[in-house]
Amino acid sequence: MPYLNRINSTSSKVYATRTLLFLKDDGTLKPLAIELSLPNPEGEEHGAVSKVFTPAKDGVQGSIWQLAKAYADVNDSGIHQLISHWLNTHAMMEPFVLATNRHLSALHPINKLLVPHYRSTMNINALARKSLVNAGGVLESTFFTREYSMELSSAVYKAWNFTEQALPVDLLKRGVAVPDPASPNKIRLLIEDYPYAVDGLAVWSAIEAWVGEYCSIYYPTDDAVRSDVELQAWWKEAVEVGHGDRRHEPWWPKMQTVSDLAQSCTILIWVASALHAAVNFGQYPYAGYVPNRPTLSRRFMPEPGTDEYERLSTEPEKVFLETITNQFQTILSVFLIGMLSSHVSGEVFLGKRDTPYWTTDQRALDALERFDAKLGEIEQRISEMNEDPTLPNRYGGLVNMPYTLLMRTSPAGVTGRGIPNSVSI
Ligand SMILES: [Fe+2]
Repeated sequence: MPYLNRINSTSSKVYATRTLLFLKDDGTLKPLAIELSLPNPEGEEHGAVSKVFTPAKDGVQGSIWQLAKAYADVNDSGIHQLISHWLNTHAMMEPFVLATNRHLSALHPINKLLVPHYRSTMNINALARKSLVNAGGVLESTFFTREYSMELSSAVYKAWNFTEQALPVDLLKRGVAVPDPASPNKIRLLIEDYPYAVDGLAVWSAIEAWVGEYCSIYYPTDDAVRSDVELQAWWKEAVEVGHGDRRHEPWWPKMQTVSDLAQSCTILIWVASALHAAVNFGQYPYAGYVPNRPTLSRRFMPEPGTDEYERLSTEPEKVFLETITNQFQTILSVFLIGMLSSHVSGEVFLGKRDTPYWTTDQRALDALERFDAKLGEIEQRISEMNEDPTLPNRYGGLVNMPYTLLMRTSPAGVTGRGIPNSVSI
């Protein structure tokens, strides 16, 4: 909302949107209403001017509902690319890559644990700064946030919280789960058939078990964590310099216990691998048909009594296409997400290492083998669930597109699956 007047002074014409969804008995969600809001023209201190639209299938009302959904999608597309993808995975990881390289020697056990999850991250971020997130770059050209993209991303970072990047905490914060001490992750999903959360929690638990086992080999006591000078210097720099804007926040793990260390490393590995895979590799499969997932809007909703509104009864598709992402922006956007959604050959997936000689410690090698086997089981279980007719959200009902984003392996190319170890595209 605070950005709308500035964004709408560019060629973007967008709303702040809210969508109300109804959770049906079969576990699927049905949109009931979309609210489109603009700052009050008398001044932002007067609040928002909002209109609510409800579903309609045919005629002008059907076209209006189609447009309302497009405006909601425009918000979501931009937030997805700028916040969920760029800020929460690419940008978030960078200070940890730097601090690790500066403070943990190549032989340090935590360097050995984390280094596969940093592969190519600095490289792809440098490329992104050159042509994607830079001034006048692809993001500013194709997403509704235009030249306010990076400013908006920085503003959202002011509320970023490291510990909330843990999947169970994120699900609680978003109100899609409630605390439940009896459940495996101590949370219970409010939407049981929520594929990202179900598969994500399985992968999260596998990472947590692996990291816990690995850390306990080298850190038998909390004192071992406190007295490791390299480790303390690593964490201090990551927090105080790397995430300097947020360094005074009380929620940072203090790195005084084995549990602080295991929790922090679990979050870093989760973000670099599964979280990034979930937000990145489905972009072309889910958003490659731009009319179904527009990235910006160029006109406001037609008002009754105007010529534009009349045109909705004669040429609604034309009005729709004149409203959303234009042809050139569409080509740029499809090119971008096609590239981002591709796996290169030789990718190293979660639970795998590119060299069997990364350690000679049999205890660590055995623990990694268990992690690898667990991820294989999860992949198999996802295949089975995707065939289960009682879990309609796994294949989108009539759309029949199975949720495969958190299946660990993938061939090269655009596949909508595969969890590489690191943020590398
Ligand atoms: Fe990415």
